[in-house]
Amino acid sequence: MSNMKNIVVLVSGGGTNLQALIDAQNRNELGNGRITCVIASKADAYALERARNNGIKCRTLIRKDYPDISSYSEAMRDMLIEEKADLVVYAGFMTILNEKVCDEFPNKMINVHPALIPSFCGKGFYGLHVHKAALEKGVKVSGATVHFVTAECDAGPIILQKAVEVMENDTPETLQKRIMEQAEWKILPKAVQLFCDDKITVVNGRTIINE
Ligand code: GAR
Repeated sequence: MSNMKNIVVLVSGGGTNLQALIDAQNRNELGNGRITCVIASKADAYALERARNNGIKCRTLIRKDYPDISSYSEAMRDMLIEEKADLVVYAGFMTILNEKVCDEFPNKMINVHPALIPSFCGKGFYGLHVHKAALEKGVKVSGATVHFVTAECDAGPIILQKAVEVMENDTPETLQKRIMEQAEWKILPKAVQLFCDDKITVVNGRTIINE
């Protein structure tokens, strides 16, 4: 199909969210989209292995090869244009890209965040830090959010959220695992499917889902 959307996935680490996207694609659950390229910010990201194992094109754009966010963002913008990305998915991507990328792909980049935004988000809240902060606060529910990426970190229009119970004896690691299994791995592929099937509209900074 010529009107298939090219999905480019950005990764930095283990890539379990990438795996959830690959599994959804193999079940034909990414709608009108297909993963055409995975770009890693770290050369040793295990996510690259997952892409290779599934015959998906891999590229690296190493964050520490660039002196600052501005030059890294320009290089990323150029790579995404080269890859003809229709949708850019941040799947455990740990670098905040600036407006040079966001302006080029307005409402075409989505991120999965491991908390219920606007709680435990913004600069410094990534990976296990998020779950540590949630446990320190003593929240009884946390969860995950999929949202559009704008220049302001974790502040773009929310697409899907799912709540997950916090247990009395949770550690950051056990809470992270439960949130991944019960929320992230479900709502990220779902949001990608909705996007690829043109079912998401953004109005006044909020999304409307037309299922
Ligand atoms: C996931 O929990 C993801 O939500 C989080 O990092 C983990 C990556 O795991 N992302 C952020 O914190 C971004 N601010 P993965 O590499 O196995 O998908």
